Amino acid sequence: MTKPRILMIIGGGIAAYKSIELVRLLRKAGYVVRCVITRAGEQFVTPLTLAALSENKVYTNLFDLKDEVEMGHIQLSREADLVVVAPATADLMAKMAGGIADDLATTLLLATDKPVLAAPAMNVRMWLHAATQRNVATLRGDGVTVMEPDEGEMACGEFGPGRLPEPAAIFAAIKAALSSPPPLAGGVGGGTVPSSVLPLSSDMPSPSPSRQREGDLSGQPDFADEDHRPLYGRRILITAGPTHEPIDPVRYIANRSSGKQGFAIAAAAAEAGAEVLLIAGPVELPTPPGVIRVDVETAVEMAAEVEQGLPVDAAIMVAAVADWRAADPAGQKIKKDGSGQVAPLALAENPDILAGLAKSPHRPTLLIGFAAETNDVVAHAEAKLARKGCDWIVANDVAADPMGGESNRVHIVSKTGIDSWDRLPKHAVARKLMEKIADELDARIPRQPD
Ligand code: C5P
Repeated sequence: MTKPRILMIIGGGIAAYKSIELVRLLRKAGYVVRCVITRAGEQFVTPLTLAALSENKVYTNLFDLKDEVEMGHIQLSREADLVVVAPATADLMAKMAGGIADDLATTLLLATDKPVLAAPAMNVRMWLHAATQRNVATLRGDGVTVMEPDEGEMACGEFGPGRLPEPAAIFAAIKAALSSPPPLAGGVGGGTVPSSVLPLSSDMPSPSPSRQREGDLSGQPDFADEDHRPLYGRRILITAGPTHEPIDPVRYIANRSSGKQGFAIAAAAAEAGAEVLLIAGPVELPTPPGVIRVDVETAVEMAAEVEQGLPVDAAIMVAAVADWRAADPAGQKIKKDGSGQVAPLALAENPDILAGLAKSPHRPTLLIGFAAETNDVVAHAEAKLARKGCDWIVANDVAADPMGGESNRVHIVSKTGIDSWDRLPKHAVARKLMEKIADELDARIPRQPD
């Protein structure tokens, strides 16, 4: 049987990051996915991430298709079995309802002869506004299936309906739309799919996953098992890699952090079902599937992106952030004058991102720092735990295997004790850590019973 083909249109909105998880679910189920992202959508997710996940070219503007050599917009809009708009913003739905076609996404929506499913996401006032409600009614009348948004606290701080339904619920709606007869444009067949009453299917992650450990041969948790997604519904922020602090246009202060452990943690968190925001310093590592990545260069940029990424359930600060930056980076290359004088380089202290987060009003429920130590590993970690105000320090014994290696021996130091693990490959450390984090989050933020 041929697998369903989905054309996904990603609008602009803070919820766009959830489209990444949706693409992942669809691909995992074997669906063929092509993504189109609006200009506003590109502010929230990158075409590169979507291309990597969908394993297909991502289309961003009408002129990509202008010469019609590769694929014309009519063909793109019709070769899919279903067009999915997620997130469907107020603006996008207004254009759909009005038949406006002023960019690639809206042109495809007007040109398609296939069923369309829209998953709205917007501020509660915008959702409840008479204009939006009128547009939703028009769209449903035209045969578009418009899901009901979820209710809850929104990124803007307000409460009410307007949140993008969870990716698993959109996935279930997609399956329902594919198995029902195609709606007839002009009033029959479209309708509401309240995310809360969507059937749960066996091949999507369960919101209350089994806590059973199906350990593989090495005793590590196996997140390839769809039913074992212990971080499902959790939002996790991870920092990784070094920072580079410019001295002048050609020089910078750096360190030897490879970013491997942080990237392995991001990969394991996504595999375990979390929504993952990875804030990465300069490293040449591929973005793990399902992870939203923001690249930064300096500690100050990293601090700003961390703040932007809040709120999260857990933050894991793996980055080796430079302690100092040049107090006054030169606009031009600094020249030596041959006199042997001391270099004119004053250093300023960088913000401590971890310590700052510990004091933030948006402090994550679980805040984890890392510490690379060569001696008195546990004692140094205990001191750091108190100094930084975090919940755990993952103390990393780098005496035998310095930064950049493939394995780690870690001790998880918390107020309640020390958990010392054998030396393990970095990806195994990451997976074991995700199990521990999932248990801790379940204890601190209990799951609602079904
Ligand atoms: O102080 P030290 O660099 O040893 O602390 C290490 C921990 O603190 C790591 O989790 C690191 O990511 C975090 N850190 C930070 N901002 C800094 C320095 C360290 O978030 N400026």
